[in-house]
Amino acid sequence: MRILFASAEVAPFAKVGGLADVAGSLPLALQARGHEVKVVMPAYQMILDRWSPQRSIDFEVRMNPYWTARATLHEVHAEGLTLWLIEGCGFFSGIGRSEEVYTPGRDAYLFFAQAALEACLATEWTPDIVHAHDWHMGFLPVLMRETRGGRWEGVASCITIHNLAYQGEFGPDTLEVAGLPKSLYNMHALETYGAVNFLKSGCVYADQVNTVSPNYAQEIQTGEYGCRLDGLMGYLYDQGRLRGILNGINVHHHNPATDPDLPVNFSVDDLSGKAASRTQLMEELGLDPDTNAPLLGVVSRLSNQKGFDLMIGAADRILGMGARWIVLGTGDPWSAGELRRLEAQYPGRVRFVEAFDVSLAQRIYGGCDIFLMPSAFEPCGLGQMFAMRYGTVPVVRQTGGLADTVKEGETGFVFTERTAEEFGDATARAIAAFRDPDTWQKLVHTCMTQDFSWSSSAQAYEAMYADAVAHRSNARTEHPASVTS
Ligand code: GLC
Repeated sequence: MRILFASAEVAPFAKVGGLADVAGSLPLALQARGHEVKVVMPAYQMILDRWSPQRSIDFEVRMNPYWTARATLHEVHAEGLTLWLIEGCGFFSGIGRSEEVYTPGRDAYLFFAQAALEACLATEWTPDIVHAHDWHMGFLPVLMRETRGGRWEGVASCITIHNLAYQGEFGPDTLEVAGLPKSLYNMHALETYGAVNFLKSGCVYADQVNTVSPNYAQEIQTGEYGCRLDGLMGYLYDQGRLRGILNGINVHHHNPATDPDLPVNFSVDDLSGKAASRTQLMEELGLDPDTNAPLLGVVSRLSNQKGFDLMIGAADRILGMGARWIVLGTGDPWSAGELRRLEAQYPGRVRFVEAFDVSLAQRIYGGCDIFLMPSAFEPCGLGQMFAMRYGTVPVVRQTGGLADTVKEGETGFVFTERTAEEFGDATARAIAAFRDPDTWQKLVHTCMTQDFSWSSSAQAYEAMYADAVAHRSNARTEHPASVTS
């Protein structure tokens, strides 16, 4: 199949979170299965600074009767991918760092969606599938049905929800900017709770919708996790248009036996390098050297989604068990302040690195004993998989993809209630296991031998694409804006 794969972030070119890891690795797995994939993303300045395009094509994008713009498609071949970088109106040309990726805003994403479709026409490359990711790309499925004079009628579309909490809500003038009729401002099409909702719109118009773990696909049909779209999610599920596909990770890149960021490499057959990586990590971060103390690690955006409220609430209890604790991440000021306070209160035992540091992250996955991820919700979560592959045993809350990937007592420690007490209990179980060498060795071994590669999930995406194509051919004669199509 020919797949146009659209994401606002793609590792290693631009990365804010897990979306980039998926967008940089799933296309490789699909290519390995014989598909032709073009990864379309904004032409951020930092990408054009480092990679030179093989070709650049100019074309015109007509947004609405008052706005016609020039756009350029830069085709870059790098890291095994064919990247289509879309430039125009100066929307992305000022972006020099990953941290700035999400500054452009609504009009930039509307323009991008239209331009990505025009780029296919300009190069005479027609995909079989347009695969959009998250709310930023939500208008791709919409514009394919509403504006192109039927040119996209036969092309199927899919959207993947990486996090339902971010939906992209804007005013009704969005319709004018996108050149769409006002009549689409209704709850069956683009409107939701008094706003134009990008993610919801993408889900209504796409032939198939998925999220990034089977468990999260169930959870988002409930009021607790549905972020006001639980009704729509349940509806799509009943129609066979919503499913969960567990993320994979790039097991070649995330391999402790070859990872260049680790001071000493190691494998499940020889863990001596893990012990050395652990000692060096403690030294690097100025922690008291103590081989008997369990070393706990966190690599995360600082937010209560990721459970910092629970970790901070349980910190005294956990440190009272003799643990050392490393946190790497940036984000909400309350968590950062609390972590700084703990660092001052427990010198040599707590280290908070307030930074976005991909290389240090690898050393934390490699050098720690226990990885903490007590998320309030977690569509899939990649950190727990990276940690397990590096022999670092996770403590997780039983939610989303964490529940699908971590099993109590086999590959980690799992708790249910969102309380510091339950999280502290689970961490205490992990620390007790750590102090029993036989139990620990078995846990580490089981973690390291789990299969987190893309192989089975890439096949699941293939099956979803086939269902999208079938849905498209059935829907062709029906009204495109109808969710019942
Ligand atoms: C988002 C989710 C995370 C998921 C990632 C990739 O960052 O919060 O759970 O693993 O997307 O799909």
